[in-house]
Amino acid sequence: MIYKILKLPKKKQLAMSQFLKIIRKQIKKNNKKFNGNLSLTHNYVTKEKINKIRIASFNSINKHKWQKIIKKLVFDEIKKILGPDLLIQTKLNLSIQMPGDSTSLLPAHSDTWSSDSPFQLNLWIPLTNTYSTNSMFMFSEKESLNLFKKISLDKKIVKIRKPKKKDFINLKFGQLLIFNPGIVHGNVVNQTKHTRVSLNVRVKSIFSPQPDDQNNDRKFGTYYDLFNISNNTEFALNILKSGVLN
Ligand SMILES: [Fe+2]
Repeated sequence: MIYKILKLPKKKQLAMSQFLKIIRKQIKKNNKKFNGNLSLTHNYVTKEKINKIRIASFNSINKHKWQKIIKKLVFDEIKKILGPDLLIQTKLNLSIQMPGDSTSLLPAHSDTWSSDSPFQLNLWIPLTNTYSTNSMFMFSEKESLNLFKKISLDKKIVKIRKPKKKDFINLKFGQLLIFNPGIVHGNVVNQTKHTRVSLNVRVKSIFSPQPDDQNNDRKFGTYYDLFNISNNTEFALNILKSGVLN
């Protein structure tokens, strides 16, 4: 599985209302007239103010027990792919892409180019409908791998094509995307009439290879927290801790 779109049942969608509430509150603080529709945020907030609102919302979300909500949303699915012993990124990230805003663009990249693990999975959770340029674009598994091969051969930065219409991920609120960060992805200036608001976070197996010493910042305890542990693994770790097997 390289990527998968998951449709959340209504009950699970309700769990996301916590996040909506927090972001709406921050926008409302900035403009009392805000009607609560996140995809119309740009009608109430200027491009200059949006990052401040994003950071305030991010801080507020991360003060809550968001891991519990994420678990409710995707644990069953992630378990099928990576098993039950999981780490999760320490912070839940928030993106807000308003029409015409060029301040928060991420050109085509693979997260592995900035030291994330190819064994990891990224969760991308839109809080608005996403379509066309307000969404994220993703290249296919084949094209992404070909880019890796090309970079390895050329030993330099290769030219990456511009995204086409078909590369953008269409999602409705209540759907979310699970993808391997090896996939080349990014975003462009939002040329639609709707703001996109989305959350993202990374998960990986406890048993995935540890990052090398040059990438200490990607280690368990700094970049990752424990997300879930099975009884069997917990027992095994206690056996190791006893020292008898050393
Ligand atoms: Fe990325």
